[in-house]
Amino acid sequence: PIILTQSRFTHRDELTYPYEERGLQFGDGVYEVVRIYNGAYYLLEEHIDRLYRSAEAIKIELTVSKEELTNNLIKLLVQNDMTVDGKLYLQLTRGSAPRDHVFPVDTPANMYAYIQDLPRNIKNLETGVSATTEHDARWDYCYIKSLNLLPNVLAKQTAKENGCYEAILHKDGFVTECSASNVYLVKNGTIYTHPTTTKILHGCVRMRIEKFVDDLAIPFNEEGFTIEDISNADELFLTSSTSEVTPIIKVDNKQIADGKPGKITKQLQKAYEEDAA
Ligand code: PDD
Repeated sequence: PIILTQSRFTHRDELTYPYEERGLQFGDGVYEVVRIYNGAYYLLEEHIDRLYRSAEAIKIELTVSKEELTNNLIKLLVQNDMTVDGKLYLQLTRGSAPRDHVFPVDTPANMYAYIQDLPRNIKNLETGVSATTEHDARWDYCYIKSLNLLPNVLAKQTAKENGCYEAILHKDGFVTECSASNVYLVKNGTIYTHPTTTKILHGCVRMRIEKFVDDLAIPFNEEGFTIEDISNADELFLTSSTSEVTPIIKVDNKQIADGKPGKITKQLQKAYEEDAA
């Protein structure tokens, strides 16, 4: 496989980083995951915009323009003869320098990106998944797509150990998002989700959902919802670049409504499929 590092293309095995890499030692960096369908990116511009916003928020300067990066990422698909469904992983760190919490001086940022095959999870999309609820132990700046994913990793692992696909995170009962996706509740025909404050990642798919609900005239309430609201929900679903629009049919071992993907969830799945096609 060919990867992109800074603005160069190289074989994956040729990528070496010094042991004093700030991404490794401090999690001092940001990242993106972009969906690929039939060898083409979906929502690439949105992801690149967010990458630059995340980088700016933690004061990492990119030396490439958005345009140059976009072109390089498209070349990456060509270099790998990509034609199927997959994902791009892109990571940007504050570079490699002798270990010091303080930013290094005159050290260029490190960037690399690679693609991998990733088939759509048809079973999850059609039958739905189960989730646990867990305390959101993350910091105040979750809108930054930071490499510091330890609370997310621990939450998702706990979900897995309970036979679940995702962890629904809450702060004092107020639902923020999931460990690696945004989450929505449907009650009486209205969709409820957390507002795009600094407390959640502003999902690129979430952004599309806002457009779909507009097109479909589905009421969209961004005041959020609580853990208690979940037990009376008509529908629950999550979104992310890798999970698309996935129904949640069980939370903490309790079934949501009739335990089947709901009507509005299915409408949004259809809108997503049409948009991504
Ligand atoms: N995660 N919230 C969190 C905490 C996430 O990590 C993600 C994405 C999302 C959804 O964002 P988007 O719609 O832009 O994919 C929400 C990616 C897929 C990951 O870390 O693998």
